[in-house]
Amino acid sequence: MSFKEKMEETGKKKESKIVLALDFPFRNIDKREALLAEAQNVLEAVQPYVCAVKINHHLVLPLGTFDGVQKLVTQAHEKGLLAIMDCKANDIGATNQVIAEYYYAAGFDALIANPFIGWEEGMKPIFDTAHKLQRGVILLTYMSHKGASEGYGQTIYDEKTGKATAQYVSFAKKALKWSADGAVVGATYPEKIREVHEILGENVPIYSPGIGAQGGAAETAAKAGACYFIVGRHITLAQNPREAARKLCAAIKQAR
Ligand code: XMP
Repeated sequence: MSFKEKMEETGKKKESKIVLALDFPFRNIDKREALLAEAQNVLEAVQPYVCAVKINHHLVLPLGTFDGVQKLVTQAHEKGLLAIMDCKANDIGATNQVIAEYYYAAGFDALIANPFIGWEEGMKPIFDTAHKLQRGVILLTYMSHKGASEGYGQTIYDEKTGKATAQYVSFAKKALKWSADGAVVGATYPEKIREVHEILGENVPIYSPGIGAQGGAAETAAKAGACYFIVGRHITLAQNPREAARKLCAAIKQAR
């Protein structure tokens, strides 16, 4: 079963489309054990209301992939959740392949990569590794932060046709052509979600970060065509993370 299909199944089983971004602010490095315990507690508390966990440098840097983060990946799997590594892989193919091999060896079901690097000796080795191990690749398409327009929104000239097009439109077409398992479009730009959704249809699901802390709304993103909702600080820094996740899960269900 592909990662895309696993997400569909997990989303149905858990009745949630929330991907928990398990992010925490910087802590002194002598507090790493407490950080791992906090991450484990938040994951345990919110697991009924999410379908996957997404891990970023916030935990990989202080805890290490195989010393701490792998414990969280195992915990997620034991609770029936999938695990996504938000490494935004963006290097030459040989390096990308090693990045992918380590994260997949740690148990991650999918990773996020940057299509900017192109296919040959760039993205292809990641997809090849993912296919061999039956894991997923999710591609950045239009990021959620304010400066996203400077890169993802710039006008480019299509290599083949010579016609002007937007960078994110080109990325969305590549996500379709390369059969990516997902495309990331910020919830802060619902009009971009709508446009990308028109290109991808139901072939490549849209993952949307930027909800809450960055000002995006899950309901608006859902109506525009987002399929999964990546949520971090709105849940992890809430006084009651479980309650924050429960309420958001219910709001998304209603919007969809
Ligand atoms: P917050 O706290 O803002 O966290 O809910 C969002 C999480 O998602 C990451 N992020 C992105 N990841 N493309 C990505 O692949 C994006 O456009 C994007 N925007 C935010 C962010 O680093 C954090 O882990």
